[in-house]
Amino acid sequence: MSDLSRVGVVGCGLMGAGIAEVCARGGLDVVVHEVSPGAAEAGRARITASLDRGVRRGKLSGAERDAALDLVRVTTHLTELADRDLVVEAATEDEKVKVELFAELDRIVTREDALLATNTSSLPIMKLGTATTRPQQVIGVHFFNPVPVLELVEIVPSLLMAPRTQSRAEGFITGILGKKVIRAQDRAGFVVNALLVPYLLSAIRMLESGHASAGDIDTGMVLGCAHPMGPLSLADLIGLDTFTAIAEAMYADFKDPQHAPPPLLLRMVEAGLLGRKSGRGFHDYSEKGD
Ligand code: 3HC
Repeated sequence: MSDLSRVGVVGCGLMGAGIAEVCARGGLDVVVHEVSPGAAEAGRARITASLDRGVRRGKLSGAERDAALDLVRVTTHLTELADRDLVVEAATEDEKVKVELFAELDRIVTREDALLATNTSSLPIMKLGTATTRPQQVIGVHFFNPVPVLELVEIVPSLLMAPRTQSRAEGFITGILGKKVIRAQDRAGFVVNALLVPYLLSAIRMLESGHASAGDIDTGMVLGCAHPMGPLSLADLIGLDTFTAIAEAMYADFKDPQHAPPPLLLRMVEAGLLGRKSGRGFHDYSEKGD
């Protein structure tokens, strides 16, 4: 079904941890890279906590959780990704960081036809492809948070990508991970964020202008439109630093003021109010469990 069984994941933040988790739950051998021992430890704790939550919700057994954890190794050495068939980059949403990573992965990964994938939500796949000597094997695979729960992956080719790369990536995502794919062109935001980001930014501007409270904006969209969560809660879930980076990348691509991050969002990021992961964003999470 898929020739990709040894997976590498770069970054063990919200997205990287989720991607590593679903790959391990699919029975694959996973090596995850983080930049420091502290980040590696936090990343492994994130994967463990999510698997524990899955057990509590009845989605997997304790034995399946243990088996998945056994399949994940977190390392601080990128060179340990050398023997991987597929590497999914889920590092911070920063073009310079990602371009350097792709150049390094190109030097490190030994299998000639390994796939080099990126979970970027807003940066050009082409820029990452041309950082390597094998742009025909570089593809966008964009997951959604929480990765173990949400079924979608956006597949994004670049102009230099080989068609076989797309069929291998899609076979992996549908056949091994059991997720659904949609395809989008290599333009910032792809399909989902192109629609979602202007909506979330509008909600932040609505709050900033004093038009309505954070609670009422979220309740409005949950009870009035049956969304699973309101826009400000969703921004908090994504992480306000990540969300700002996505909006800025879209603004850089389209030069459209609708993508410009509002001052309130910028000030919150400067203050370290990053949403759920920091305990406070538009809402306070200090008292909440999972
Ligand atoms: N493993 C497996 N399943 C899990 C799980 C885990 N670790 N954690 C939760 N689940 C399952 C639960 O069992 C439940 O499944 P069920 O409906 O079959 O019983 C389902 O997930 C919902 O979980 P909970 O009941 O615990 O939680 P909520 O009902 O409060 O839902 C939520 C939480 C899933 C976050 C939901 O509010 C939601 O879907 N919100 C929208 C999230 C969203 O829009 N994400 C996209 C963000 S954009 C993005 O990621 C792109 C990026 O580029 C920014």
